[in-house]
Amino acid sequence: MATARSADLAGFAPTLLSADEFDRSRQFRVAADRDRFFAAHALKRRLLGVLLGVPGAQLRFERQWAGKPQLVGRELHFNLSHSGDWVVLAISRSAPVGVDIEQGDSALPEGMLSLALHPDDRLAREPDSLVDRFYTAWTLKEAVSKGVGIGLALPFTQLRLEPSAPTQYRCRHGDELWHAEHRKLEGGAHLAVACLSPWTRLRLLRIERGI
Ligand SMILES: CC(C)(COP(=O)(O)OP(=O)(O)OC[C@H]1O[C@@H](n2cnc3c(N)ncnc32)[C@H](O)[C@@H]1OP(=O)(O)O)[C@@H](O)C(=O)NCCC(=O)NCCS
Repeated sequence: MATARSADLAGFAPTLLSADEFDRSRQFRVAADRDRFFAAHALKRRLLGVLLGVPGAQLRFERQWAGKPQLVGRELHFNLSHSGDWVVLAISRSAPVGVDIEQGDSALPEGMLSLALHPDDRLAREPDSLVDRFYTAWTLKEAVSKGVGIGLALPFTQLRLEPSAPTQYRCRHGDELWHAEHRKLEGGAHLAVACLSPWTRLRLLRIERGI
C-alpha cells in the first residue's frame, strides 16, 4: 500500500495520465481537488507500471459492473482512495483489494454512527473517541465494500467487524471472508485496506517528493 500527499505527486500528471483522465479532472473546480485527482492517478500509473514492467502511461483500465476500475489484460489488483490532501493506492498480486482513507474530521454529522455500525461490531482496541470509533469502522467497511466493488451501495450495518490481531479484522460478505487492516496516520487520517486473501505483513510505503 502506498500513501502520498497531493502536492508531492500532482506535477507528474502530464507525463502519465490519459486523455480520458485529463477530461475527468475538468470536473474539479477547486485546484486542490484537481491536484489530488492528478496525484492519485499519477501514483496509480507509476506504481502499477513499475510492478508490471511497462511505462505507466501505456496502462489501460476498464470498469467492472458497479464501477470498480481494473487493469485491462493484467493480473494485478488495485484500488485507489483520496481524501483531503492524502492519496492512497492498495495493490495485491493475489486477490481483489479495496482501500479507504478519510481525513477524520472532528465534526461527525448526526446519524452517521448508526449508518456505520453493526450491533455486534467489535473493534480491536477501544478508540480514544466516538469520532475515532466511527472512522475506524467506516474506513474498514468502505475498504471491504470497495474490494467487493459495490462501494457505498453495500449497507455498512450488514457488515460485522471481528478483530483478528491488534490492527486486523475479518469481515464476512455473503460467502466471502475479507481480511482488513486499519491504521491511523500522522495528522489523524484513518486508513483501511481489505483483501480477499490474508497477508502476513502489510507493506505501507510513504511516498515523498516524487515517484
Ligand atoms: C466508490 C465509492 C465508494 C467512492 O467513495 P469516496 O469515498 O468518494 O471515494 P474514494 O476516494 O475512497 O475512492 C474513489 C476511487 O475509488 C475507485 N472506485 C470507483 N468506483 C468504485 C467501486 N464501485 N468499487 C471500488 N472502487 C471504486 C476509483 O478509483 C475512485 O477514484 P477516481 O474516481 O479518482 O477514479 C463511491 O463513489 C460509490 O459507492 N460508488 C458507486 C457504487 C455504485 O453506485 N454502485 C451501484 C451499483 S450497486
